[in-house]
Order: sequence, then structure tokens, then C-alpha cells
Amino acid sequence: MDSIKIISPATVANVSCGYDVLGFCLDHAGDEMIIRKVEKKGIFISKIEGYDLPYDSRENVAGVSALEMYDNIDVDFGFEIEIFKNIKPGSGIGSSAASAVGSVFGMNELLGRPFNKTQLTAFAIKGEAIASKCEHADNLAPAIFGGFTLVKSISPVKVLEIPTPPNLFATMVHPQIEIKTAEARAILPKQISMDKAITQWANVGSLIHALHTNDYQLIKESLVDVVVEPHRSALIPHFDVVKKAVLETGALGCGISGSGPSIYTLSEGPEMAEKVAETIKNIFSKTDIAFDVFVSKINTEGIKILKD
Ligand code: HSE
Repeated sequence: MDSIKIISPATVANVSCGYDVLGFCLDHAGDEMIIRKVEKKGIFISKIEGYDLPYDSRENVAGVSALEMYDNIDVDFGFEIEIFKNIKPGSGIGSSAASAVGSVFGMNELLGRPFNKTQLTAFAIKGEAIASKCEHADNLAPAIFGGFTLVKSISPVKVLEIPTPPNLFATMVHPQIEIKTAEARAILPKQISMDKAITQWANVGSLIHALHTNDYQLIKESLVDVVVEPHRSALIPHFDVVKKAVLETGALGCGISGSGPSIYTLSEGPEMAEKVAETIKNIFSKTDIAFDVFVSKINTEGIKILKD
């Protein structure tokens, strides 16, 4: 096999209480990429469609993660990458992670899978860091492993796969403003109080337990963020109104998707997820902000090969 086409999924990072460690994979949107072996040694980005991104491999997240893998293999050929970007950069649903993961996943397939998913995550961290100016894997891990993931550590990389309750659905809204991850990270406090830390780690622990036991009521009680959301919510127009309304509609929880501006909501059952989508549409359609709303299953498969 000399060429492969893959689809790299959108993801939700943080999941309220799990800043930089928790994430889940969406079924709705994904970047398509073609990776092929070429005679010339090196990593070459030959096509980018959808958004204006750098062609220089050292400046492109897909290129940087590919170079990281390339430095760890000994081959007498190179790789060419075509990127068909569907996930808008800066939307908060793991656009850079999808690119960073796509190149290394595709290369690994063409090489006969010498690396496991944990090693692919480690390569992709280097690409993701170009976008957020900091190493974290909470979007990368669910894109690679699928489902819910908890990044236990990034050095060394250790990812835990968390079970997905079967009746859990996400409703996503993307208000069309751009928030740069690096800037959304810069506004966060460097230290937090002990009482906030206690609340937060209790919520992370109980959310993990709830996902293992399909306890939807406990999921609802655990989707609380007292550390990050109070600082970032001001960056997202109408966040507080949307959150209050979707919880009144019957959602289990609602928070900022990654560093925003997208907002995620989790609901029990597709009917409630659709009802929540209507609630959100009613709110945003009365504003002057363009927006997209979609309902998604939790994608338990993660990145995959696209057959023509
Ligand atoms: N955990 C990251 C953040 C996700 O919230 O900044 C976005 O890259």
C-alpha cells in the first residue's frame, strides 16, 4: 500500500471538570487526509483545501507531528500529505488535533503499524503544541482511541480508555467567532485554591465512575467546572444564557468545548439531544452571531481509514 485516505474526527476536550485530561470523540465532523509514500525523503504537504494553513511542514501541525514520527523511523522514502480541512481552526472541537493525528495515523498504516496508539499520541503532541503553545493530549487521545479518554500523563504518554454509556448524545453549537487556544490558556490563573481543587477532583473522579456504571444522574452531577469555565465563559457570547436554558430543557450538562467558542451539551437519548439543539437555535437565532448546531453520537471508533 502506497497511499491511504483517512478521516480524522472532531473531539471535545476538558468535558467541564477535566481540564487538559478528559475528552470524547464526535461522530459528526472530521478532516479528510490522503497520505502517500514518495521517493524523495522528507515530509511534504502538497495540498490544503478548506482553510488557509501553512504548507511548510515545520509550521503545519500535521507536518510537525509527521516530522516527529519521521525522525523515529529509518526509511529511504518520504511522505506527501493532502489535507481536506472540514473542522474550522479555532472552533474548539479539536481542529489542530485532527490534523496532528491524521498524518501520523496514515503514515503508521503505510509503514505496517510499527507504532501503537500511545506512541502515535506522543508524536501528535508535538504537532498540537504548535497551535496551543503547550503540550497536552486531551483532544488527541479521543481522536486516536475513540470514545471517552483520560490522559493520565503526557510524559510518558499514558491514556486510559473510559467506557461510553450507550445512550449518551452530544449537542454542539459553534458560534462563529474565533478564540485562539493559546490566548484562552493565557487568561487562566496559575494557581487555584484548595477548596476549588477538592471540588474539581471530586467531579473528575465521580464522572469517571459514572461513565463506567452508566449512571446518567451522576454524570449530570459531575459535569461541573469551578476552575476554568468561570474565567473563559466571558469569551463566549450568550454562554450563561445557553447553559441555563439547556439544563432547564433537560440536558445532563453543558460546558465549553476545549478552549471554545464551541459549547458542548451531553444528554441522555437522541430525543433530548435534539430538543436541546432546538433550545440553542432559539437563543442564537435571536442574536447577530452566525452559528452551527449539530447533534452527534459519541464516536467510539476514533480516526479511521476511508475506503473509496
Ligand atoms: N485542554 C485544552 C484547553 C483544549 O482547554 O486549553 C484545547 O486545546
